[in-house]
Amino acid sequence: MAEKIIIDTDPGQDDALAILLALASPEIEVLGITAAAGNVPLSLTEKNIRKICELAGRSDMGVYAGCSQPMSGTLVTAEYVHGASGLDGADLPEPVMPLQAMHGVDFIIETLRNEPSGTVTICTLGPMTNLGKALTKAPDIAGRIRRVVLMGGGLFEGGNVTPAAEFNIYVDPQAATIVFGCGAPIVMMPLDVTHKVLTTRARIAAFRALGTQVGEVAAGWLEYFERFDEAKYGTDGGPLHDPNVIAYLLKPDLYSGRHCNVEIEMESDLTRGMTVADWWGVSGRPKNALFIRDVDADGFFALLTERLATLGRADTVRQPKLRLV
Ligand code: BDR
Ligand code: CA
Repeated sequence: MAEKIIIDTDPGQDDALAILLALASPEIEVLGITAAAGNVPLSLTEKNIRKICELAGRSDMGVYAGCSQPMSGTLVTAEYVHGASGLDGADLPEPVMPLQAMHGVDFIIETLRNEPSGTVTICTLGPMTNLGKALTKAPDIAGRIRRVVLMGGGLFEGGNVTPAAEFNIYVDPQAATIVFGCGAPIVMMPLDVTHKVLTTRARIAAFRALGTQVGEVAAGWLEYFERFDEAKYGTDGGPLHDPNVIAYLLKPDLYSGRHCNVEIEMESDLTRGMTVADWWGVSGRPKNALFIRDVDADGFFALLTERLATLGRADTVRQPKLRLV
């Protein structure tokens, strides 16, 4: 049976590829997509999600706007990486599919309460404000989550927005603290693994060689997105972060890591948003997360390219259900 998931996301070009990978994969049933504020403000991320769904031929997908500000502090965004729209690098039309009226936090709560307990996975690709709020408003949902698979944090690689902190955790460390403390099984994709997944010229060329609109758009996004990271890290291509969350659901054997305790630093000016991961088990604190550190990057890109190739084909395009009156 397909794994039921909710995607919580702040697109972002790498978020966009994660969403496309999920929508292209029959092993996954996307119950809905909630918008987080992060890479760009909420008004843009919710619109970007709808653009991505339409690109995938999935205008029937439920898209819900979540919180516009983190649980504490004010929103930090990353237009310097993703461009003013959050999705610079390819020109997509304004979306026509609707934004749902329900708040994203309520969608997460209602879905977890309505689906059988232990059957819904939450995939977070941005700051975890929506999930943190949902767990605060409805603590009963924690025990109903199958697992949380998230992109965020870093240990051996350090941070990407400060020397100590990765962007998604840095933007809302309070929400991250709540999620890591909620008791649900957690799999984390930190910078330690995403920095091994590089969008080299050859890999981008493979997207373009698909000869489809999705392949062309994906190549355009990545060429835009990587320019910043190539300059920063001096690599051929930049890290492709968020699609690792979805790839892990599809092919966990591509990844390896270790169960350990992960706590979030909330106070220090120097290290706010740091994921303090006890890789060596020296603290005695309970293991609350599977910290992924390694990946078969070629296997990952083979999977992503093969799945993107299926999008846009007639058998994957679903139109909105007609309402009979
Ligand atoms: C994370 O921050 C965002 O810029 C990316 O979309 C990814 O989720 C990487 O630190
Ligand atoms: Ca993201």
